[in-house]
Amino acid sequence: MSSGNPEMTEKIRRLAKEKNAIILAHNYQVPEVQDVADMTGDSLALSVKVSKTDADLIIFCGVHFMAEAASILCPDKKVILAVEDAGCPMADMLTAEELREEKKNLPGVPVVTYVNSSAEVKAESDICCTSANAVQVAKWTKSPEVLMTPDRNLAMWVQRHTDQKIHFWPGYCPVHNNLTVRAVEKARQEHPEAILMAHPECPPEVLDMADVVRSTGGMLDYAKNSSEKRFIVATEVGLLYPLKKANPEKEFYPASPEMICQDMKKTTLAELLRALETERPVVKVPDDIRVKALRAVERMMEVPRD
Ligand code: 13P
Ligand code: SF4
Repeated sequence: MSSGNPEMTEKIRRLAKEKNAIILAHNYQVPEVQDVADMTGDSLALSVKVSKTDADLIIFCGVHFMAEAASILCPDKKVILAVEDAGCPMADMLTAEELREEKKNLPGVPVVTYVNSSAEVKAESDICCTSANAVQVAKWTKSPEVLMTPDRNLAMWVQRHTDQKIHFWPGYCPVHNNLTVRAVEKARQEHPEAILMAHPECPPEVLDMADVVRSTGGMLDYAKNSSEKRFIVATEVGLLYPLKKANPEKEFYPASPEMICQDMKKTTLAELLRALETERPVVKVPDDIRVKALRAVERMMEVPRD
């Protein structure tokens, strides 16, 4: 458990129970927020959880597109994002208008959109994917060509695992894309016996060095089931907390201590408590966009995992 603030944690838990609220936290959230949540996970796991919840209130500790995904899946529930301006810079790199223009250049080519995108962009897409299922989703389209948006690194990663031609939008995650070969080499020199786990949002030259490429949830599963004892973790540093919590006997080292997503760190216990008390800010996707976006999200959820 994190040191946190026991009084505030207790207040949050009590209020959540009174309001029949479910608190969901992404794996990059600060430790005390992860500890107070009903569930933590990667984007796919959180979406699956949301789609099955019978809570009246959904409180998201993460970034805007995650709360939008909850609103898409649960239109009758009140969805609250703990901090209003917690966004994802990668999601902001593609607008629906830009995607409509790009589709004109690739007529008939299915659009596979990473969940790190706005609801409007999802509404213009054929199917969504996450870092946990991107390869399976691209193959599922059975199309010789696919357009993947908005993350170029994830798209290039998929390209290595399929014979399909993958076109991509040149977006990226600033946190992962800034990870250099040099930084990873340094981490490897310091921990030569460690397994290198990397997120597919990292640049291709970093992924070339990795022993394992996985979503954040995939890294948690891998570390738990592996007989190895030491791991270098090439993703946002927040993941080190649940890794260590689930595997106290193993060691985890950041590939670079600079891999910090400022937006993910905006949520504090105090912000979460305020959101729960005020039931604000509400994230509600308008129905015309929601219905189209839901098609793309539901299709993704039907794709079998390997
Ligand atoms: P995961 O779905 O792997 O948790 O990734 C979400 C994300 O924002 C990565 O930067
Ligand atoms: Fe977006 Fe990158 Fe932050 Fe994930 S880590 S929420 S992709 S900016």
